[in-house]
Amino acid sequence: MLEMLVNNFFGADLSYEALRDRFVPALVYMIDHMVRDTVAPRTQAFARKLFGGEDTLQKHAAAFEELTDIALSGRPDGRGLWGEFKSEASDDALRSNIRVFLAGAMEATTSFATWAISHLSRSPEWQAKVYDEVKDINVYDPEDFTKAPNLNRVLEETLRLTPALYFFPRKATVDTWVETSDDRKMMIPKGTHIRLDVWHSNRCEEFWGEEITGYPADVFAPERWDVMEDKGTKAKDMLHFGFGHGPRFCPGRSLGLLEVGLVVGALVKIFKIQAVNKNTSPSAGVSTKPADGVLVDLELSNS
Ligand code: HEM
Repeated sequence: MLEMLVNNFFGADLSYEALRDRFVPALVYMIDHMVRDTVAPRTQAFARKLFGGEDTLQKHAAAFEELTDIALSGRPDGRGLWGEFKSEASDDALRSNIRVFLAGAMEATTSFATWAISHLSRSPEWQAKVYDEVKDINVYDPEDFTKAPNLNRVLEETLRLTPALYFFPRKATVDTWVETSDDRKMMIPKGTHIRLDVWHSNRCEEFWGEEITGYPADVFAPERWDVMEDKGTKAKDMLHFGFGHGPRFCPGRSLGLLEVGLVVGALVKIFKIQAVNKNTSPSAGVSTKPADGVLVDLELSNS
């Protein structure tokens, strides 16, 4: 993921080893640090002083900055996709966006792929359906991907049930009236902090439950999407917040789906995956991940 973003998207030329050994660990560390530093900044600083750790933080922070510099360095010559970027914004103004691109894209894609593998490792039936679709696919491009409807169903259901980003923080910049479909109104005063709880809204029984989709909202059931389609449910009524909604909708959706489809499809093509634990709970940092670390037994598919 990071290799594709840095080298293809931003036109850099970093070796796989440098990314794997230096920059990926730096991003993983900094993403965890962001959570710890938000929840308990003073305790974290104290713990670093007490047990050492300031050097590690500085080392990873410097690597993240360096990676941001590398991504930006292609801008003057229009390397990668920079050539298509028309903006007067200074490099300094773009830095935080580049960081979101690099760390956010890697974190969200990792979470999404690990959840999909985790669900499939507990669903031999859906694993077999995906295997039948991918066993003869050797090149993944967007057209091949459309020939794998079951894989797409699995990915859609994964993101609904176990969204990578599980809440969206917002702040009302003006007094705002919100109207519901049953004509109720609510005033949100300017300055109010709001958290949209994606995890629970995506599992709301009223919208995603048995009555509407044929399956309880809190279980992994990719077949619910066929039920809804057969009922003629409109696309707007099948919306969930896995990629966000509205003006801040994820611009990396298509790319992310392709990448996660590639990882999950390739894994299922090569291995039969079986979960070691019957269930796993979610662990939540910047994104959610299966708490058991996707502990699975692997067996070669064609053995
Ligand atoms: C496939 C896994 C991905 C998931 C589940 C995901 C999910 C999301 C979500 C839910 C948001 C909205 C956040 C909010 O409203 O506060 C978002 C925003 C964003 N995503 Fe993704 N994303 C993924 C992949 C990517 C990739 C691959 C890229 C870049 C190549 C990317 C770039 C972005 C950016 C730049 C934003 C901020 C958009 C804005 O604020 O206007 N994402 N993503």
